[in-house]
Amino acid sequence: MTRIGILLSGRGSNFQAIAKNVASGSIPAEIAVVIGNRLEAEGLAAARERGLAALALPSKGLDREAYDRQLIAALAAHQVEWVILAGYMRILSAEFIRAFPQRILNIHPSLLPSFPGLDAQHQAFDYGVKISGCTVHFVDEHLDHGPIVTQAAVNVDPDDTAETLSAKILAEEHRIYSEALRRLFTEAWRIDGRRVLFTPSA
Ligand code: GRF
Repeated sequence: MTRIGILLSGRGSNFQAIAKNVASGSIPAEIAVVIGNRLEAEGLAAARERGLAALALPSKGLDREAYDRQLIAALAAHQVEWVILAGYMRILSAEFIRAFPQRILNIHPSLLPSFPGLDAQHQAFDYGVKISGCTVHFVDEHLDHGPIVTQAAVNVDPDDTAETLSAKILAEEHRIYSEALRRLFTEAWRIDGRRVLFTPSA
């Protein structure tokens, strides 16, 4: 069974959606550890309630390289094969990315490459787009940039606010992140340039 490590900084609703699908068997994986870089991250409490290994590793005041070395060691100690970012609000060092080649995923609340960075739902709403959504992608050394595994679109309706739009996007995040993991762990795939290709097995 694929051993996954979850990194989070806050609420952890994407982590919880994944954990439910791991528990039900629809994602064939084991959550080896959940690591939060903020002591007060609600996602860590949720992980403990689920009986998972939950580790608070505060990042405050540490430089990126030093912190990421601690992270790599903690993930290695739990024999993590795939790193799943679920609302992890720090940029990863090049060394970290090299430690897990093609094995780090992120979810971003916009249709990339539109609106990378913070507060993507508000950025999209303020821009006036009629369609937004979310993106599951591999993580590379650039922010919100690696090859795209899957996306889902939502309409921006006239009566939407940034908040209602965020809620619609979040519901899709919870659906497609698990779906992406299930496919990556059960199907054959490869990355060709920027394209993630699922290859039907013979
Ligand atoms: C989500 O909107 C995700 O797309 C972004 O951070 C937020 C995390 O939410 N990367 P949660 O902690 O999973 O509830």
